[in-house]
Amino acid sequence: MELATTLTSQTVQNAVREVGINPNYWYPVAWASQLQAGQVMPVVVWQQVIALYRDTNGNLHALEDACPHKGVALHKGQVQGDRLLCAYHGWEFNGEGQCVGIPYLPKEQKLPCARVRSYPVREKYSIIWVFPGDTHLAEEIPFPDVPEFDDPNWLMVPIPARFQAHFSICNENTMDVFHGFLHKNLQGWFNPVLINLQQTDAEVCAEYQVSYQGWMTKFLGLSEQGDQVTTRTVSIRYRYPHYNSSLEGVSSLYLMRLPVAPTFTQSFSLMFLKVRLPQWLLKALDPWLSKFIWRFLLKQFLDQDVEMIESEQQTYLGNRQRRYVEINPAIIALQRVIIRQYEKFVQQSSQPPNHQHTDSQASEEPSVSDSQSIGCVASDSIRVNRANPIELINLDEGNCKGDPKG
Ligand code: FES
Ligand SMILES: [Fe+2]
Repeated sequence: MELATTLTSQTVQNAVREVGINPNYWYPVAWASQLQAGQVMPVVVWQQVIALYRDTNGNLHALEDACPHKGVALHKGQVQGDRLLCAYHGWEFNGEGQCVGIPYLPKEQKLPCARVRSYPVREKYSIIWVFPGDTHLAEEIPFPDVPEFDDPNWLMVPIPARFQAHFSICNENTMDVFHGFLHKNLQGWFNPVLINLQQTDAEVCAEYQVSYQGWMTKFLGLSEQGDQVTTRTVSIRYRYPHYNSSLEGVSSLYLMRLPVAPTFTQSFSLMFLKVRLPQWLLKALDPWLSKFIWRFLLKQFLDQDVEMIESEQQTYLGNRQRRYVEINPAIIALQRVIIRQYEKFVQQSSQPPNHQHTDSQASEEPSVSDSQSIGCVASDSIRVNRANPIELINLDEGNCKGDPKG
């Protein structure tokens, strides 16, 4: 749907500051280099704590971070082969979350049916991704497409970021090209004009025309003459829940968003820059150049954004009824998508399980209904999602599916 690009006054719906996520997407949880073979670490996707481990063969596994014996956090344990051993009594879990060993149980005795939820997990673009929603949907949900990742002509700069703010505030910052006032000299371009805006249920695409003049036009190779004004298009595509923003042939930013809690968000971004150097030189300089650009240019830029985003969150928390005015229709469109995606998830998860899947195995595994607290946090209390591990233990051994000893 094409939307008007006129800047007009509209009231912000404060509900967007309280909304939950649609978990039926892939979310980034760590840089691949943060987790070596044989290591385990805790990660959080919208209040679901997950023990992420890489087995000794290098394969990734993601289990709910609560041992089904007594609830001890599994990330405190250790990796042995392809198993994760709980730190307390040493119960052993495989990558599917099934208890496959208890060190003090006599050999002839059958294991209890104890199981912890497991999550689909993948490594892509040097990032580890988890699918926190309905596992049956994981295969059909695509990852963001990042063609520059395998193209040696682009310099890649990984950008980590943490914000003490709701993900809607962070997402609006990325869509909002009009805050160039904040970045002043760091930004390079001026006079942004919204020229095109499209929205669907899951996507907002905005194009802004921006102007360059001076040394920046020459540095970026936009023009030989620095004294003339050159215009370029900045395209910003929000495809729930991640971003791609690009400046025609000069740079491209893939911003992968991780909502952690109602007022805490992380991002794992990949910035690609067209650097005018021979490939062999670029390859040699790559690690150094990438760190230099991050440390001395992009980090300053990001710090300025973080300060604004966190200030916005604090004012909101001080008075949730305060009214705000927005004039950029792209921000209003973005808010609609964020709310719509959450509503879509609520609708899907309120249907009976047999309406959600035709797969006969659907009822055998802990489903997305175990994670209802992914929902809206508008209620008084914030429900932390740790599916009750007791519910996952079936003491009737006869009902235990796939019991390795049964
Ligand atoms: S609490 Fe995990 S093995 Fe006992
Ligand atoms: Fe910014």
